[in-house]
Amino acid sequence: MKGRPEVLAALTEVMRAELTASNQYLLGGAQARNGGFLKLATKFEAESKGEFEHARQVAERLLFLGGAPDGRLLTDPQQSESPVEQLRLDLALEVAHADRLNSGIKVAREHGDHASAQLLEAILVATEAHVDWLETQLELAKKIGDGLYLSQQL
Ligand SMILES: [Fe+2]
Repeated sequence: MKGRPEVLAALTEVMRAELTASNQYLLGGAQARNGGFLKLATKFEAESKGEFEHARQVAERLLFLGGAPDGRLLTDPQQSESPVEQLRLDLALEVAHADRLNSGIKVAREHGDHASAQLLEAILVATEAHVDWLETQLELAKKIGDGLYLSQQL
């Protein structure tokens, strides 16, 4: 089946952003594990795999629509040695990605590609869940202090 170029472009951008996110969580996980924050590391590692799976799903959809999956990252992954700063960087990434997904869903619907829209909607739900988790962590750290928050992440 042939996809509309506008939809292929939106899917490609989403796939590249998913790969960026997967890499950013991979680096955050490695950094957190190295720092001894094993709980955060486990969470970041799971997120990295989740984002990779999203990229895989979008790659499959692109191929079905006659497109060529693009494995390049969309932007450089952002990393910090401070786990709380890493959470802030991840939140910024996820918020930007939610905007991107909402735009992609609109484009897909405008071109009558409801299955692509549905795929992006499912990814959007997961992305908003990440946003929610990240916001909660940052609020907690603010409330109880970074030191106490991090002492719960060992
Ligand atoms: Fe994702």
